[in-house]
Amino acid sequence: LMVDKGNHRHFMEKEIYEQPEIISHALSHYVDFASGSIKQKAEAIDFAKLRSLAISACGTAYLSGLVGKYWFERYARLPVEIDVASEFRYRDIPLSKDQAALFISQSGETADTLASLRYCKEEGLPIGAVVNVKESTIAREADAIFPILAGPEIGVASTKAFTCQLAVLAALSIQAGRARGILTEAQEKELVRHLIEMPRIMSKVLNLIQPQIEQLSRDLSRFKDVLYLGRGTSYPLAMEGALKLKEISYIHAEGYAAGELKHGPIALIDEHMPVIVIAPHDRFFEKTVSNMQEVAARGGKIIFITDEKGAAASKLATMATIVLPNVDEVIAPMIFALPIQLLAYHTAVFMGTDVDQPRNLAKSVTVE
Ligand code: G6P
Repeated sequence: LMVDKGNHRHFMEKEIYEQPEIISHALSHYVDFASGSIKQKAEAIDFAKLRSLAISACGTAYLSGLVGKYWFERYARLPVEIDVASEFRYRDIPLSKDQAALFISQSGETADTLASLRYCKEEGLPIGAVVNVKESTIAREADAIFPILAGPEIGVASTKAFTCQLAVLAALSIQAGRARGILTEAQEKELVRHLIEMPRIMSKVLNLIQPQIEQLSRDLSRFKDVLYLGRGTSYPLAMEGALKLKEISYIHAEGYAAGELKHGPIALIDEHMPVIVIAPHDRFFEKTVSNMQEVAARGGKIIFITDEKGAAASKLATMATIVLPNVDEVIAPMIFALPIQLLAYHTAVFMGTDVDQPRNLAKSVTVE
């Protein structure tokens, strides 16, 4: 397989920058650009009749599944049971035939994810696979394949596969919402319109924030611990931000639901642990800002990742504020993924780590 870095220093950087183009390509598989509706792709899974959906995956794929849970529950009123595959496979989860199972895996070969798939298959559930490698074992054993069409991902830390998984899960949740009579045709079109606009916004954001993030990563590289906070779909994103940072810069980072701050991590707040807050101006914004105030009151340094409305609405002093354009909540996770990817990338470059091949990690984990 021949893939080169082009003008980029690392595959990870190349993969971050190709997201707008690749997502646009992936979307064209799920979205009819002319009519502005979702193409019907999930024949093997009858969303209309499902009582609930089980999702399982590992690592970054698990975190995209967690964003998917918020979408399936909000747009399709479909309850989602989700767990990391290493727990899912052994938990003796009671399952029934009015459920379906969805497995998310870039490689399609992750041992725990495959074992979870086989467990659900034995229980007679219809199986969907959100995969990048269409010839993979997970794809072959599924009843329905939802390709993410990201192309080969070489960097061990997943970037474009994450946002493509999100794009596919967004499209599937909208499709489920229509099938279940929750979304009207007009609502579907509105959501799809946002998805179609997304690649253009992604390019704009990548250019807009790059210099600031590169600068900020120098400051970030001085710290040993970082806390990431978010609410709603920004909560899995906070965990993804922390995962990216620890994977490639080796800075200890934790992602927390902002509301859980007072149940533990607040004890750690001081000037030595910056808190990165992901908060678009959505229905959770005020709550997250009050968590930020709790951090500020204890001398914590804040890196605020928000949008234009959010920046205008908050008066708190921060170490840095990264301002993204205002976007609809259905595309916010993909847009807000960009600063957290770039922040991890530039911090790792600044620290001189092996960005594409971080120590102790493998791209594909085919053993338990
Ligand atoms: C490894 C990789 C991660 C990936 C995870 C799941 O830990 O380093 O980037 O998210 O496996 O891999 P999969 O191929 O199943 O998505």
